[in-house]
Amino acid sequence: MSDEEVQLEARLEEQDVFEPPESFVEQANVADPAIYDEFEEEGPDAWERAADLLDWESEWDQVLDDSDAPFYEWFTDGKLNASENCLDRHLDDRGEAAAIEWIGELGEKRTYSYSELHREVNEFAAALRDLGVEEDDVVTMYMPMIPELPVAMLACARIGAPHSVVFAGFSADALATRMESADSEYLVTCDGYYRRGDPLPHKEKANEGLEDVGHDVETVVVDRLDDDYDHPMKDGEHDYDELVGEHAGATVEPVTRDAEDMLFLMYTSGTTGQPKGVKHTTGGYLSYAAWTSHAVLDVKPDDTYWCSADIGWITGHSYIVYGPLALGTTTVMYEGTPDYPEKDRLWEIVDEYDVTQLYTAPTAIRAFMKWGKEYPDSHDLSSLRLLGTVGEPINPRAWKWYYKHIGKESCPVVDTWWQTETGGMMLTTLPAIGEMKPGTAGPPLPGISADVVDVSGDPVGAGKAGYLVVNQPWPGMLRTLYKNDERFVDEYWREYSNPDRDEWVYFPEDGAKIDEGGYITVLGRVDDVLNVSGHRLGTMEIESAIVGVEGVAEAAVVGGDHEIKGEAVYAYVITEDGTEETEALKERIVEGVEDAIGPIARPEAIIFTPELPKTRSGKIMRRLLEEIANGEELGDTSTLRNPDVVSDIQSKMSGD
Ligand code: WTA
Repeated sequence: MSDEEVQLEARLEEQDVFEPPESFVEQANVADPAIYDEFEEEGPDAWERAADLLDWESEWDQVLDDSDAPFYEWFTDGKLNASENCLDRHLDDRGEAAAIEWIGELGEKRTYSYSELHREVNEFAAALRDLGVEEDDVVTMYMPMIPELPVAMLACARIGAPHSVVFAGFSADALATRMESADSEYLVTCDGYYRRGDPLPHKEKANEGLEDVGHDVETVVVDRLDDDYDHPMKDGEHDYDELVGEHAGATVEPVTRDAEDMLFLMYTSGTTGQPKGVKHTTGGYLSYAAWTSHAVLDVKPDDTYWCSADIGWITGHSYIVYGPLALGTTTVMYEGTPDYPEKDRLWEIVDEYDVTQLYTAPTAIRAFMKWGKEYPDSHDLSSLRLLGTVGEPINPRAWKWYYKHIGKESCPVVDTWWQTETGGMMLTTLPAIGEMKPGTAGPPLPGISADVVDVSGDPVGAGKAGYLVVNQPWPGMLRTLYKNDERFVDEYWREYSNPDRDEWVYFPEDGAKIDEGGYITVLGRVDDVLNVSGHRLGTMEIESAIVGVEGVAEAAVVGGDHEIKGEAVYAYVITEDGTEETEALKERIVEGVEDAIGPIARPEAIIFTPELPKTRSGKIMRRLLEEIANGEELGDTSTLRNPDVVSDIQSKMSGD
């Protein structure tokens, strides 16, 4: 490094507050700080600005119906169609403009203009109807990042069939559980995809999952791998290209949906072993995805906007598909990994496509940092106007690296906190308003009321850690857990609400702290959910997979610190009497976890132990296991029933 660079680095290290760049402020969609007061003064009606970003077939009667809280309803009796909002209404002005720029793993490129996307969505919607899909039937998609995935989602939205997208990296078991839970009789999947240049079969996994689904399923298969892979088709299955070909030129009138009708289901991990089916609606969710894309990501029709998440997670739903397409912009979809063929892959794409916004995850930024600045430096990134992060806390060093080496100190960075359940962003600075503080997501968005409280629900005040709560409903909120209203109330509303006084407080199950300026730093989950590379995994799900392995008696899973992934899975395992603690057993445990959930949940370390540290009441002390995983000094062990076990485990970990 030159002297100048060293000085710059030192200055950056000391700086805790960053102002939005002037050049950004001048052109921003939302630049007037009065927006906060406006929301405050107008109450729920303020959300009409979000709904007004969409086209409605008929307007709503009431913005918010809170008569049956916490079962809130938004834009009641309003009618619209999400596919029409993401496609048809852009055709006149932007028919020839790119809706999706897709970049394949092998370097292939496909551009879908709005009219091309509209055509294929119509054809596939007609095909789905012919297969028997009716309004309100749940269609499952089990696909990687290929354009047919958003096509299928929008085709479903067009005919009023909610979709349930299952991340392609999830296992056959995970697919089966989700299809069963949603009573889903339709599946759109593909033969396989490429990873680091090699074909990766996917259809076998889908087939395996289907064997465990107790009802008949109509399956459509996209042929991604051509001749590279001869996929096993079962009787009665349909080839995507043939279906679309048979319906060439078909048009399907968008079905009129009620604002509160379900747009999609998304399964996510919770405290118990059973994933939760989060229900999102057509009016509230779409308004919220569009509004936050407009206000936070500053999306404009002429942008080439890129969110590098996977559509199999909520971030991809809201900020690759629905938000950007509702606003008529160009959304980039990248199938591959950031380091194939080289570690400059993302920067090559930013350069080539003149990407204007990049929205990614801290885990990726930490990897970029590790690889070094020479990769971004070898490309022209001057098209970038805004950077964003999501999924986990970002440490100030990573934030500053992103700001400096990717944004060249001229792009605001929005650190956005939100969840599958919230539908869209909740805490973040608005990029043209207010200062940015690295490591701190920021204040609640206008119209969002959040605080940090103690166990009894009282605000902790500046500087202290507590629990994050949201005190007012918002349009993008989940409406319920699919077919499980009771669990919905229990999981999110029981903790801090006061039903007798009709006061409802949403509990996201995150720990947080708040500073004097009202900026909130989210510290991480306070339930038994891990955040591995920004992916949400339930410890119970992993534990039950491990206990399902022959020879395992008991298991406890905790998150250990990890330089790149944020958290990594540490599994403490007790074997059954007579079973040896072998490497072979460890391999079977890894396989068991991969089969039940997928490779993302693979344990970083498996530690055999004769016992687990338990309190006198028999509860596993996870805190201790975390401290051991992280090699930290141990906290209080006096309440343990079996204090000796701690040193046993520690010596095992150090390989004694
Ligand atoms: C965590 C992803 C700190 C948090 C959109 C939350 C974050 C969980 C941030 C939701 C952030 C997300 N700072 N933590 N900016 N964003 N989280 O449902 O623990 O996959 O509860 O939604 O990720 O994960 P989910």
